[in-house]
Amino acid sequence: MYRSEFYVYDQGQPVKAIIRNYTKNDFDQLIEIQSECFPPPFPAELWWNKQQLTNHVTIFPDGALCCEIAGKLAGSLTGLCVEFDPNNLNHSWEEITDNGYIRSHNPNGDTLYIVDISVRPQYRKLGLGKLMMQAMYHIVIEKGYARLLGGGRMPGYHNVVDQMTPNEYLTAVISGELDDPVISFLLRCGRVPVGIAKNYLDDEESCNNAALMEWKNPFKSQEGGV
Ligand SMILES: CC(C)(COP(=O)(O)OP(=O)(O)OC[C@H]1O[C@@H](n2cnc3c(N)ncnc32)[C@H](O)[C@@H]1OP(=O)(O)O)[C@@H](O)C(=O)NCCC(=O)NCCS
Repeated sequence: MYRSEFYVYDQGQPVKAIIRNYTKNDFDQLIEIQSECFPPPFPAELWWNKQQLTNHVTIFPDGALCCEIAGKLAGSLTGLCVEFDPNNLNHSWEEITDNGYIRSHNPNGDTLYIVDISVRPQYRKLGLGKLMMQAMYHIVIEKGYARLLGGGRMPGYHNVVDQMTPNEYLTAVISGELDDPVISFLLRCGRVPVGIAKNYLDDEESCNNAALMEWKNPFKSQEGGV
């Protein structure tokens, strides 16, 4: 089980924070976080329900992390383990995560796959998302997986959909020409883009695209992408 206590700075002030595994007692707050993080036009049916959360804490409890500040949950990060085929980048969120129910979890897989990351708007830009991602990197190393992988939403894409393809948008974000609320965050977490997955998620802002982004276990890393 994972537990780490540390300080983050909120407006110049150190504030105690904890990253730990989430449990049944956290479910109500986890659903509240989803409603704050994925407002319309994001479909509310895609927020966590209690059955999905029950599966997370029973099927793969190591992949169920949350962050707490002063007794309140500030965010969560959830993963499952899959055997990833590098020759088949084009999958949907629904397929790979079993629609968030993670019954597709493969304990013998080589890849920790991110189902979701969310931090309440009130607690953003404190470093919590990055620290939760780093906590998941610790799990990748501890379990000896080859990589962490996930599809990053690209919510800024709809602003330029008439001017560029998803791949061109991703290139513009990587070159620093454009900033995307999720892809730029993932780059700052050390995640590296490996391609675009089309029809990844019912996500109007991203025009249903996602950038697949990996972090390779440095103890197992060989040259080249996935
Ligand atoms: C994406 C998200 C998890 C980021 O969480 P966060 O706790 O605010 O991120 P952090 O404070 O850890 O930021 C880490 C780095 O990313 C940068 N960053 C964070 N949000 C950013 C944004 N909107 N645009 C550009 N950079 C951003 C930070 O400046 C920081 O940079 P640094 O490491 O160089 O200092 C949060 O914005 C969120 O919950 N969004 C809505 C849910 C969502 O779309 N999740 C992604 C699903 S694929």
